[in-house]
Amino acid sequence: MSDDGIDRKVLEQIEREATDRLRNAGDLETLEELRINYLGRKGVLTLALRSIGQLPQEERPLIGSLINEIKGRFNSLFDEIKAGISAGISDEEPYPGDPSLPGRRMWTGGPHILHKVMKDVKEIFYRMGYSLAEGPEVELDYYNFEALNFPKDHPSRDTQDTFYINRDILLRTQTSPVQVRHMEKYDPPLRVISPGRVYRNETPDPSHASEFHQMEGLYVDRDVSLADLRNDVTYFIHSFFGRETNVRFRPHFFPFTEPSAEVDMTCFACSGDGCPICQKTGWIEIMGAGMVHPNVFKFAGYDPDSVTGFAFGLGIDRIAMLKYGVDDIRRFLANDIRFLSQFWRGSWVGAEK
Ligand code: PHE
Repeated sequence: MSDDGIDRKVLEQIEREATDRLRNAGDLETLEELRINYLGRKGVLTLALRSIGQLPQEERPLIGSLINEIKGRFNSLFDEIKAGISAGISDEEPYPGDPSLPGRRMWTGGPHILHKVMKDVKEIFYRMGYSLAEGPEVELDYYNFEALNFPKDHPSRDTQDTFYINRDILLRTQTSPVQVRHMEKYDPPLRVISPGRVYRNETPDPSHASEFHQMEGLYVDRDVSLADLRNDVTYFIHSFFGRETNVRFRPHFFPFTEPSAEVDMTCFACSGDGCPICQKTGWIEIMGAGMVHPNVFKFAGYDPDSVTGFAFGLGIDRIAMLKYGVDDIRRFLANDIRFLSQFWRGSWVGAEK
């Protein structure tokens, strides 16, 4: 190869140099000078292509196409760097921000606090061997009242007014109708919980809403006793609120249990000393319970002489308020993200706290 001739080595050298100079061009003028320098009428690559004629015939196609490839690569690098400079990106500042800043936090949403409480409660009962039963929110009068031993026009119905679809269909006031539905379908023994939404025609105030949540419990077998009820309820309260919590059964009336009780636990706010939250009693009511009434067994098709059972109905909103210090039951369904999001902070993603 003659001194002024071109070959693969010379071309590689030219490309390396051109690439270096392109990368180091800090502004658009320098860049444009380089373009003219390499691709202009008297540019290095232009001249190289023109000089091909001096090469031996057999070398021409190879060197020719090599030069064209280099021109192609030059052009695309040129475009890339030009775009970078125009966007204010250069080698001195390769990223248009401060990469050491913490990342942006992403909004991930999270489970509703009632959902979380429901899940925690369910898990405790699953540990005790309960399984899940479900029933409709739009319920028959028959299951919500009649089969639970609330006769039609009986004053006991006054304790639970609701919204009627028609004379026979209503929005359930309690999860107790699932007791009867479940016993109709399955033979004893059975041990189930049934969480869900219930409705009442209430005037809303900080502790009453027209929609809230309950969890029913039902255990039917031979020789189930009040002691068994007390055991399971106490285990639940200790697991959910802590072992130091005391539990008290207070005689009460429900048409579908006999005997019946309301279950109180030590006030979480004053630990039993008495404060405004527990109305100075030191106790807070969290559920209704009792031994399944023989009439309910009869409605469900069970023989009241051969089985016994207990049932309880837990206020989910109630225990959520107690555990998390929520002052107004209406907050749960007000759909205010400022209130709800405080319970899912843990699931925010990102470096910033
Ligand atoms: N269903 C009753 C209520 O809503 C609670 C309850 C359930 C009482 C089961 C006894 C047995 O008030």
